[in-house]
Amino acid sequence: MADKQRKILVTAALPYANGPLHIGHMLEYVQCDIWVRFQRLMGHHCDWVWADDAHGTPIMLRAEQLGITPLQLTEQIKLEHERDIAGFLLSPDNFHSTHSDENRELAELVYTRNRDAGLIRKRTIAQLYDAEKDMFLPDRYVKGECPNCGSADQYGDNCEKCSATYDATELKNPISVVSGSTPVERDSEQYFFALSDYSEWLSKWTASGTLQPEIANKIREWLDSGLQDWDISRNAPYWGFEIPDAPGKYFYVWLDAPIGYIASYKNLMDRRGGDYLDAWRKDSDFELYHFIGKDIANFHTLFWPALLDGAGLRTPNGVFCHGFLMVDDNKMSKSRGTFVSANTYLKHLDPEYLRYYFAAKLNDGVADFNLQLEDFSQRVNADLVGKVVNIASRCAGFITKQFDGKLATQLPSECAADYQAMLAQWPTIAGFYESREFGKAIREIIQIAEKANVYIADAEPWVKIKDDASRAEVQQICTAGINYFRLIVTYLSPVLPSLTSKTEEFLGVPLTLENLDTPLLDHSITKFKPMVVRIEEKNLNGMIEDTKEEAKAFTAPAAGTALADEPLKAEIEYDDFDKCDFRIAKIVDAQHVEGADKLLQLTLDIGGETRNVFAGIKSAYPPEDLIGRLTVMVANLKPRKMRFGMSEGMVLAAGPGGKDLFILNPDEGAAPGMRVK
Ligand code: 2FM
Ligand code: ZN
Repeated sequence: MADKQRKILVTAALPYANGPLHIGHMLEYVQCDIWVRFQRLMGHHCDWVWADDAHGTPIMLRAEQLGITPLQLTEQIKLEHERDIAGFLLSPDNFHSTHSDENRELAELVYTRNRDAGLIRKRTIAQLYDAEKDMFLPDRYVKGECPNCGSADQYGDNCEKCSATYDATELKNPISVVSGSTPVERDSEQYFFALSDYSEWLSKWTASGTLQPEIANKIREWLDSGLQDWDISRNAPYWGFEIPDAPGKYFYVWLDAPIGYIASYKNLMDRRGGDYLDAWRKDSDFELYHFIGKDIANFHTLFWPALLDGAGLRTPNGVFCHGFLMVDDNKMSKSRGTFVSANTYLKHLDPEYLRYYFAAKLNDGVADFNLQLEDFSQRVNADLVGKVVNIASRCAGFITKQFDGKLATQLPSECAADYQAMLAQWPTIAGFYESREFGKAIREIIQIAEKANVYIADAEPWVKIKDDASRAEVQQICTAGINYFRLIVTYLSPVLPSLTSKTEEFLGVPLTLENLDTPLLDHSITKFKPMVVRIEEKNLNGMIEDTKEEAKAFTAPAAGTALADEPLKAEIEYDDFDKCDFRIAKIVDAQHVEGADKLLQLTLDIGGETRNVFAGIKSAYPPEDLIGRLTVMVANLKPRKMRFGMSEGMVLAAGPGGKDLFILNPDEGAAPGMRVK
């Protein structure tokens, strides 16, 4: 037990309630869980509160696409998230939702307190409006040409080509990603949080040791370039909480999301009969830490502390950022089968493999984490199976079969000192856990396991058992082995909760730091059962193949039909393919089709012959942009009668859908009518 019991409140980032959790999420949650379990092992009071992030435009549109209400969608997803949280042995004290009564009440409280402190300001701004969908468009739902460099197909907030940042209203030729129509500008009144008033306060706060150095430096750049006030409101229709004194205006999802941390704690305290303010008032004796990805550092290190302070609440003691998960040196990818959902992982592999591998390579920095699949299986097999569990499996059989399951009454004399030395390593290991240097903690622990294995190999109980005179010695050797094993698993218990419970069952004692002080002697243990099995190549391959299959079956999100994600049709023969006559076609005219959401009417010249074709590419191209361009068409497709007229062929296009739908564009040297091979 630690000298002084600390009170600690921990959060992990709240996952959006519109899709499954994946192994990238798990990197953060496992990091958080190990830290929380370590604090509890130390005897501290450590609560982890968490929730689904249930609001915002993407969730609203996803629900609409599925034909259900946003509430139904978030309720379904919450169940899936809870299943995966349990599957990965994560131990939050509460998993709530930001769409909850507590969060509504607290979002209103934080808002009104900031408003009453003069920190909320109304301003009228011009915003892009999708008249077809009858909604204002968030920046990411508009695309167009960059006002700075002219690059096509850029989002409404910044240009991926030249990095310029701008207002969506500055985009040239904007297109709504939601409907494919051209948005119009409309003035609307919005509510801003006066972040600029907090510049000086934040300069001090962010430099006070609360942040990792890399993050503090990044934030300093933001502060130096001047903070803008923050638009915390969104116009209806919006899935979220209506602002109390502003009908038709809703809190932006990023306003109520972090308040969800407080709401989840309040929900927990209401059930436990405590007061949530104990952890959130300014003079609270709780420590507060947020685990997040580096991509959302600005929300947690600028907006959030300022909002909390403005509302008269306490600020965090630490914001712990991590990098992104890479798989085999690359971003997770659906087509490569490395964008693995938590659920698919669990169908093929034990959660403790990944928990262990994450722990073995994690540190306190923000560099990206590389899950190297071959290294993953080698490391888990070598360390967990070959070094840790091996100690027990080599010793337990002798104790069970030869000594009726009973441990010796003392350790061999040479082991007593070694055991003390292993105990003395704990403060170093604990220091590494505390500072999130998990890789260093694991290295120390595995060194202990290596030492234990060397001891058993040298002591050769399997040889000594043949000599009756050495029986007592064998019992002591194996008792030492079992005690080393208990100590190692106790040190690993924040990482491996399931191995910990199996060991507790095997030994018939709880694994606690206090219990380690006295070696387990003259004590009956149960029959040893295999505790961790090796990772086989087929498990990994199965997981990757399943993930590829899921990607094919995936139905696209709101932006449009993701053609690339549709399942493959049945194989065809070359002869079938050869029946298609692909021709270069010049688009001589392109017109809107009255009453059609997606279609354009194209007039195509295929070398002396013109064709009338209806193509579903309206979301990607204003018709005037197409005139004069070359494309590829299937010219011998039997004409089809459509609602709007006869379609005489098919234009080839590729892309995920919406604005990202590209007609195939032959090079300049092509001439209409040319056959494409
Ligand atoms: O980036 C995200 O996935 C957000 N849903 C994280 C929210 S964390 C907190 F602020 F609620
Ligand atoms: Zn640009």
